[in-house]
Amino acid sequence: MRLPILPLLLTLFPIFGWTRKIPDINWISSNPIFDVSNTDHVISVHIGDRVSIKCPKSEPNGKYEYSYIYMVSDEEYDHCFLSKPRLVGACDNQTVDASINIVFRSFTPTPGGFEFQPGKNYFLISTSDGTQEGIDRKKDGLCTTKQMKIKFEVEQDRRGIQNPKFAARTLKKDRDAEQSTPVMYVVHDGNDIDDDDDGSNACSYLVSILFLLASRYLL
Ligand SMILES: *[C@@H]1O[C@H](CO)[C@@H](O)[C@H](O)[C@H]1NC(C)=O
Repeated sequence: MRLPILPLLLTLFPIFGWTRKIPDINWISSNPIFDVSNTDHVISVHIGDRVSIKCPKSEPNGKYEYSYIYMVSDEEYDHCFLSKPRLVGACDNQTVDASINIVFRSFTPTPGGFEFQPGKNYFLISTSDGTQEGIDRKKDGLCTTKQMKIKFEVEQDRRGIQNPKFAARTLKKDRDAEQSTPVMYVVHDGNDIDDDDDGSNACSYLVSILFLLASRYLL
């Protein structure tokens, strides 16, 4: 009775169980996660996780917060300047609902694609000042005035460490799953993203629950 569950899980787990959708991040300086009173801008992730960074929507009065989002070093993050930044996304068009999707992949075949190593930290900041003219600022800006910065801490995979036998068996499938979607990030309209997310979220949750139940049962 035990055997049929295991192959099913081994098939689904690397694709869904190891990818978690981090809650969307609204890239607007009024977002409370940027408030100095909390550490919600420090986000723990695992390889395979994904996150959508949502550009602001234009306000009824026509105001819009313009920003470029850069991936930077810890020093640039601490002191809000750009030295060797990599542009991750642009919130520069108030007529579209743009999102920047990041997948925390340790390998991407895309030249110049972003890669993330377990145990390392990755930093996003905006040195734009929020205005259209100030979008290209190279220091301070919203990073300084509103602490508009995010730190992603990529964790070592707990599950693999806890259960090396299981990790070894899923290793090959995991690698295949990673290679199957080479695109690191895309900027596109918010609507189609939402559709996609609902479906795969539900599926992730279902598989996570199945996995929890099965690991109790098997171990
Ligand atoms: C904003 O996006 C719309 C739709 O894609 C496009 O027609 C328009 O030219 C863009 N505006 C700017 C300022 O880039």
